[in-house]
Amino acid sequence: MANSAVTMEKLVSLCKARGIVFPGSEIYGGMGNTWDYGPVGVEIKNNIKRAWWKRFVFESDNSYGVDAAILMNARVWEASGHTTSFSDPKMDCKTCKTRHRADNLIEAHSKGTVDTDLLTNEQMQEYIEAHHVCCPVCGNFNWTPIRTFNLMFETSRGVTDESQNKIYLRPETAQGEFVNFMNVQRTTRAKVPFGIAQIGKAFRNEITPGNFIFRTIEFEQMEHQWFCREGTDEEFYQEYKKRAMQFLLDLGFKAEHLRFHDHEKLAHYAKEACDIQYLYPMGWQELNGIHNRTDYDLTRHQEYSGKSLTYLDPVTGEKFIPYVIEYSIGADRLMLAVLSEAYEEETLEGGDVRSVLHFHPAIAAYKAAVLPLQKNLAPQAKALLAKLKKHFSVTYDEAGSIGKRYRRQDEIGTPYCITIDFDTLEDGTVTVRDRDTMSQIRLSMDELPTFLMEKCAF
Ligand code: GAP
Repeated sequence: MANSAVTMEKLVSLCKARGIVFPGSEIYGGMGNTWDYGPVGVEIKNNIKRAWWKRFVFESDNSYGVDAAILMNARVWEASGHTTSFSDPKMDCKTCKTRHRADNLIEAHSKGTVDTDLLTNEQMQEYIEAHHVCCPVCGNFNWTPIRTFNLMFETSRGVTDESQNKIYLRPETAQGEFVNFMNVQRTTRAKVPFGIAQIGKAFRNEITPGNFIFRTIEFEQMEHQWFCREGTDEEFYQEYKKRAMQFLLDLGFKAEHLRFHDHEKLAHYAKEACDIQYLYPMGWQELNGIHNRTDYDLTRHQEYSGKSLTYLDPVTGEKFIPYVIEYSIGADRLMLAVLSEAYEEETLEGGDVRSVLHFHPAIAAYKAAVLPLQKNLAPQAKALLAKLKKHFSVTYDEAGSIGKRYRRQDEIGTPYCITIDFDTLEDGTVTVRDRDTMSQIRLSMDELPTFLMEKCAF
């Protein structure tokens, strides 16, 4: 059972009201399916990326980070297969002029009982005709035939029209990791097996984006490629499945809200693939993917670039092109899952309802809020704020009753509220209120940095 309190409408409205996510280009009437992260949202998303990087780069043996260019030589996308195969089956409704994905139409019509991964475009066309699947917008049956639609955004480079060349906004970060395989190996002297990780923007001209930040045309990916010897790939594939799941459990996801989904129809590069799905407010959907990509990527880039990407094993003297186990997760999609999982409407004694985000303290935008009990305690509160700011992201609020200030912090998931009161002036202690239990303890101000460090570690 999904978190029963949460609906997409509630999340969108909380995010807008509390500075987490705003509609993109809002004052111009918006720009469909683009979103801007606000002051609180940017901190949450940065913390998600930091937690991922810490786990999959800093704490991983033999893993290294890169930050490759978004714009890459167009030949990269020929080698990767994106120019020919990165497409979705689209159909246009000739009556209301809306565009749809054939696979989505069939999945909705069959209520998920037909696995469209197993169908060719011709079989999908047959299904839609045989079952008279109508346009979900206008209700008519007036389709164009299925056509494949490439999802890459094209642009051009060059200062004059004559010298323009078609280039693409990258649709995944992975290729930046593959083309740097030799650079990373040479400069780190890493021995296979080793990993390359990257976090960065990717762009896809999705036919049916939607569900808030779940599927957008511009998004961030966190991708990790593990280069290993053929024969060890199956073992590492299983290991990455476990590591990917453990990361989510450690972030605080309930095990019953996550499940593996093995792919039956595989991408052109994959030998084995699965997703971890999360029970979002709109149902089970892919959160991340794990692929055994074989030696496809490095072999293709070696062929198309003419540069050797063959690894020389320093111990055995053997030469080979490594296999790749890929673990890929969208930062925005993870953020939506984190928000859904954390959201609660809690009925308090006396009947009041508080909205609270219970996420892991490491993910919270602010580790603590400093609150003077009364405005005349502001100087002492601001002095404490300045000290804590050197080590943590903290916020300050002196407006309204203490109860209202607690509620505001609960809504954005601040794990601790630190209140300065008149006893603070006497003995240097403060009240620390816990977001989840609402219990309060008294601590000396000197103990706060260690307390917050321990509580907020991931
Ligand atoms: N390099 C492999 C790759 O890109 P993918 O399954 O297409 O594989 C990986 O994407 C992850 O990126 C997905 O599991 C999802 O978390 C995220 N993602 C993909 N398309 C997205 C979109 N349009 N909007 C938001 N996130 C997306």
